[in-house]
Amino acid sequence: MIGKFAAALAVAGLLGIGVSAAQQQPYVVAESAVAAGEYLTSIGACNDCHTDGWDEQGTAVPREDRLMGSGFGWHGPWGTSYAKNLRLTAAELSEPEWLEIFERGIGLPPMPWVNLHAMSARDAAAIYAFLRDLGPRGEPAPLPLPPGVRPTPPYFTLVLPAS
Ligand code: HEC
Repeated sequence: MIGKFAAALAVAGLLGIGVSAAQQQPYVVAESAVAAGEYLTSIGACNDCHTDGWDEQGTAVPREDRLMGSGFGWHGPWGTSYAKNLRLTAAELSEPEWLEIFERGIGLPPMPWVNLHAMSARDAAAIYAFLRDLGPRGEPAPLPLPPGVRPTPPYFTLVLPAS
């Protein structure tokens, strides 16, 4: 009887019954959610686009200057996009609203939406905790431009092969 009960529990575990999806997903372990978020944004390339000066200075960019977005445009068939000021985004949203952005995972290139969509809710929440800890600072990034409108420099251009 006990054996059957244990077996049933094991099957339930395998099927994930009674265990939420969030608990099954991998996540970064650190001394706090804020520390996990700082780590994730550093190794997850978020600063590459969302922090001006990161590509030249890397981790030498002071913590308080990070993730304030960029006026550097990304120009292509989608128009022109700008990496948003994530500190303002996090300050304006509740944690569930922040997680919803990741669950939806839809937006303009070159933001790696597909990767973010695959991130565990716990890691996404850690990034939110880090951004809230940094606090709101800086200006909003420029609004995206529609296709065909030439942005003012500086910007990258994606050139597709001629059809
Ligand atoms: C290659 C550049 C690039 C990288 C790397 C990148 N982003 Fe982005 N991100 C963007 C751009 C550009 C946008 C604006 C997209 C749009 O306008 O739809 C954006 C938008 C976002 C938004 C939406 C914010 C809002 O206010 O709507 C979130 C959230 C976000 N990024 C989080 C992250 C996180 C977290 C990481 C790292 C794990 C990351 N990004 C890495 C370029 C990037």
